Order: sequence, then C-alpha cells, then structure tokens
Amino acid sequence: MSILRIIAAGATAAALAGSAFAAGGGAHPHGPAEGFPFESPLGKFEKDSVQRGYQVYKEVCASCHGMKLLSYRNLGEKGGPFYDPEYPNANDNPLVKALAAENEILDPVPNEFGEYDFRPARPSDPFRSPYANDAMAATANGGAIPPDLSVITKARHGGANYLYSLMTGYPSQEAISYETSPEGEFLTVIDPSLVRSSGIYAEGAGGHGDVGRLIQPLGQYYNPYMPGDTTAQYEGDPRHPPKGGFLAMPPQLTDGRVTYLDGTEATVSQMAYDVAQFLAWAGEPKQQNRKSLGLATIAYLVFFALLLWFSYKRIWRKVEH
Ligand code: HEC
Repeated sequence: MSILRIIAAGATAAALAGSAFAAGGGAHPHGPAEGFPFESPLGKFEKDSVQRGYQVYKEVCASCHGMKLLSYRNLGEKGGPFYDPEYPNANDNPLVKALAAENEILDPVPNEFGEYDFRPARPSDPFRSPYANDAMAATANGGAIPPDLSVITKARHGGANYLYSLMTGYPSQEAISYETSPEGEFLTVIDPSLVRSSGIYAEGAGGHGDVGRLIQPLGQYYNPYMPGDTTAQYEGDPRHPPKGGFLAMPPQLTDGRVTYLDGTEATVSQMAYDVAQFLAWAGEPKQQNRKSLGLATIAYLVFFALLLWFSYKRIWRKVEH
C-alpha cells in the first residue's frame, strides 16, 4: 500500500467517525469567535478569565452543580486562577482561605456530642455539594440530576466549545410563544427558524419546505446544541426536525447576571466564555505543567539528535563508507 493510500484511508475513517458523531447529536458546537487560547499547543489559560469563571460558577451554577473532584486549595496551586508565588502552599494563601470560607459545609468530623455541624470551608475541603445526595438533586430538578462539573469539558464531545455553545445557544425570547391547546393545556411553542444553529432557517426553510414548530415538554428546555432528537415534539416535516434536544436545565445566563469584580462587562457570551474556561481548567489543572514539560522534552530531543548526528560525523570522519 502506498503512503498516499494509507493517508486516504485514514482520512476516510476520520470522516466516517465524524459523521457518526453528528448523527442524533446537537448542532456542531462553534465556541467563541476567536477560539479559546488554551486550545493551541502552546496556549495558556487566561488567568483573569478563569478567575471570572470561578465567580460565575460560584454565583450561578454552584446552587445546582457540584465539583467534588476539586478542593478550594486547587484554586491557589500553581497553574490555578488564584495562585500567588508568595504562598507556594495554597493552604496558607489568605485569598484562597477567604474564598473557601464563603462556603458553609457539613463538617465530616462529628463534634464532641457526636453531631455533625456546619462550618465555613477550609482550603483543604472539597468544593461544597449543593445536594446531600442524588435523590435530593433529582427532586429539586424535576427528576433530572445536574451532573458534577469537575471534568465536564472532558466528558462532553466538543469540551469547552460545547459548554460555551450550550450556555449561549438557548432560544431568545423572540423565538418563544405561549398558547393554550384545545384541551386547555399550557404550551410553550418554539419557532426553530428563529433559533440560531437549529439548522432551519426562515429563508425557504433551508430548502426543506415550511418551517414547523417545536412544542416544548413541560420542565424541559430546547437547546440546539444538546444532543438529542426533536422529532416527537416537532410539528413539521418529520424528515427535517431541528437539530438539538431538550434538557431539564433552564437557560442560566442573562446579561448582568453577575457583577464582575474586575469591572468586565458581564454579557451572556462573556460569562459563557469565562465559565467554560474555568471548567476547562478544572478538568485539567496541570495542563500548563504538561505543556511546558512537553516543550522541554522536545527541545532536549532536538539537541540530542543534533549531538548524535555530529558525533556520528566525527567518529566516521576518517573511514571510507
Ligand atoms: C437550577 C439548577 C441549575 C443551575 C443553576 C445550573 N444548572 Fe446546569 N443542569 C441542571 C440540570 C437539572 C441538568 C441536567 C439536565 C438534563 O439532563 O436534562 C443540568 C445540566 C448541565 C450540563 C450538562 C448538559 C449535557 O450535555 O448533558 C452542563 C454542561 C451544565 N448543566 C452546565 C451548567 C453551568 C455552566 C451552569 C452555570 C452557569 C449551570 N449548569 C447552572 C440544573 C442547573
């Protein structure tokens, strides 16, 4: 097999794998226009953005989503958003102590009477969990359990871009209308032609005939990026249902939802960008170390290859070969 055929076979396999993902999935996550800086081989997390992302997580997401693989101390470790070289041991970092103490947690160690008390968290404590167990989480969220966000960017196809797209992709108010069915049921109706990335556009409906409507199930929210199938809820051409699916999480971000401490304007896309970057950092807090180690390794290998080449030249200098 020639090298070209091997490459062609590889490309075909990759294309097939790609289309397998697309089937039944949501719209392709597009991420922010400029992309995320940490995605390039030498790119880094933006410390400011990761700090703001922590604020968004803390003020918006933490009431439903835990991050149990993280401890407050991680925020102040090297590569973390609140790392301060003055405090190589994050447990001593006063800012990290203060951030931890903002959270009341149930002390895992009983008091002298054998009771469990609440106390402010310490840097060594894992992030506070919003619910004591899954049953309570499900009861509070109409039966759905908000997934732990510690490694969510690793657990979802598209990673941080998916997070960004999901958070910014909910239909805007103009696409939503309310009506009562002949049976007296209250209906939330979505016009997919007004939803970016639903794959259906008003101009000739993308060539698919008339645009139908989506009837949103009670307690569920349409999002074009959520992997799923909208056929059952679509009143329109069943061969071309809108992309995406329904999930039990209502839209979370609205302009000005948080007030950033550093004065950055809290638009929906800014908050989505920051929280996605924070979650990407949380999923791989050692990314920076890994990249610098990789760079050092490559530099060493190049140096070693040159050394070998010149030694070879020198040793065989006088030999006819
Ligand atoms: C009011 C509670 C609530 C809040 C606040 C909340 N979520 Fe959720 N979230 C949920 C629930 C419930 C689900 C599960 C939805 C389902 O499976 O249908 C979910 C699911 C998710 C998912 C997984 C989607 C998937 O692909 O399965 C992500 C990612 C997510 N939330 C991120 C966030 C982020 C980021 C924030 C903060 C900006 C946030 N959530 C705030 C309740 C919440």
